[in-house]
Amino acid sequence: MPVPAPTPDDAPTDDDAPAPVRPDTAAVVLAAGQGTRLRSDTAKVLHRAAGRSLLAHVLAALRPLGLGQVVVVVGHQRDEVADEASRAALPNLTTVVQERQEGTGHATQVALEALGDAVERVLVVPGDAPLITPEVLTGLLERAGDGAALLTTTLEDPAGYGRVLTDERGTVDRIVEHADATAEQRAVRRVNAGMYAFARAPLAMALDDLPTDNVQGERYLTDVVARLDRPVAADPAPAAAVRGVNDRAQLADAAARLRRRHLEHLMVDVGVTVVDPAATWVDVQVRVGRDTVIEPGCHLRGDTRIGDGVRLGPDADLTDTVVEDGAVVRHAVCEGAVVGPGVHVGPYTHLRPGTRLREGSAVGSFAEVKQSTIGEDAKVPHLAYVGDAEIGARVNVSCGVVTVNYDGFDKHRTVVGDDAFLGCDTMLVAPLQIGTGAWTAAGSTVTEDVPADALAIARARQTIKPGWAGRRRAAAHEDHPAE
Ligand code: UD1
Ligand code: CA
Repeated sequence: MPVPAPTPDDAPTDDDAPAPVRPDTAAVVLAAGQGTRLRSDTAKVLHRAAGRSLLAHVLAALRPLGLGQVVVVVGHQRDEVADEASRAALPNLTTVVQERQEGTGHATQVALEALGDAVERVLVVPGDAPLITPEVLTGLLERAGDGAALLTTTLEDPAGYGRVLTDERGTVDRIVEHADATAEQRAVRRVNAGMYAFARAPLAMALDDLPTDNVQGERYLTDVVARLDRPVAADPAPAAAVRGVNDRAQLADAAARLRRRHLEHLMVDVGVTVVDPAATWVDVQVRVGRDTVIEPGCHLRGDTRIGDGVRLGPDADLTDTVVEDGAVVRHAVCEGAVVGPGVHVGPYTHLRPGTRLREGSAVGSFAEVKQSTIGEDAKVPHLAYVGDAEIGARVNVSCGVVTVNYDGFDKHRTVVGDDAFLGCDTMLVAPLQIGTGAWTAAGSTVTEDVPADALAIARARQTIKPGWAGRRRAAAHEDHPAE
């Protein structure tokens, strides 16, 4: 099946995990918090943006780094968060539980206890910064070298972030949290992105006995900076890569940026025409092939893959759907479907799970298909329901055809041979077989199998009553003479 070449955004599997190229470096992902500002029953890092949880975005950025170990600190909804972490299929990923969320410093300390002996350097990242990229994290590791570095960025509105205070030589003095900052410190627009690279041993020492004499009464990881014996280097990063998500407005903003980034990759690196990126929603793991055109109003989600030279939209809503080369899908809702090469879908079509449309077939207006195969060059042009059916090649499924697949208890299958012709309004009462090249007459309710090349007529025979309508009108006239 021709599908586009893999991109770095592919859904990962265990098999294609990179071998560790930095066996002495571990990542600690802080993901124990509830995320109070999201006002949600769901832990913050499980909230989704552009097709992945916040946590999955962070783990996807860590993946290409080839680290020796990844430790995810869980607390709120620990089982769900741990499950989500394991779905990233990173080698050497473990989770540790932080029973009480006593602060980012405490969380890091809990994680250090889980590190193997080989680990000498530690990358700390928050689980709520989905825009982070492998490039920025690689730069941070390089900047830190054997020492320590932290990512900073400069924000127009730095409210909520820790401010990075530097001395006259530009070295980082310390970080002061927004809540603890003076008015003068709050005017500083250079903020801490919450991502750091440390040498393990000095970090462990600096984490010991962190003070809690701050507004939140927490053990801040940020306080480590002033406690290390060596200066911490500041590594400036683009704000677009390091923004955190603390409320739902920031969640929507991050999702928009992630989508935009993926669309830019598709346009620039692959050669996809996106007519209006602002009106196109493509989840980051969705692959699209060269010379495909996406019209406005398309949503591509889940495990959706689009081939080359496809035309999508306007308004195609595709989930877990494969569209092969040269197909056209417009004004359609498709879930779990496979749309073969050169197939036409829409307008106003619903493809449900288990639908397979073979090469050159077409499904048109107000037609619904589920758990069915439509054969090569077969047509379902309008107003039909095809469920639990095998429709052969070149079959014409005329207007109003229905597979009567459900008897109130069980679903039954319909099999239609190649080159059959199903007349308008045929009810196919399953289980049923229509032979190769057979015909059904319009308006038939077919309950028995039809042999190959036969015609099935299953409807009341027409009666003609000559002059009946005229007599009816005359009688009506006598009863109600015109006033
Ligand atoms: C933190 C930094 C701040 C920085 C900002 C960048 C501290 C004290 N502050 O603030 O300087 O500008 O990130 O986004 O580090 N977590 C735990 N256990 C805890 C507390 C937090 O696992 O006990 C996790 C949270 O789930 C979250 C991450 O750590 O994923 C960051 O915590 P959060 O409360 O969002 O920190 P900020 O206030 O954003
Ligand atoms: Ca945060």
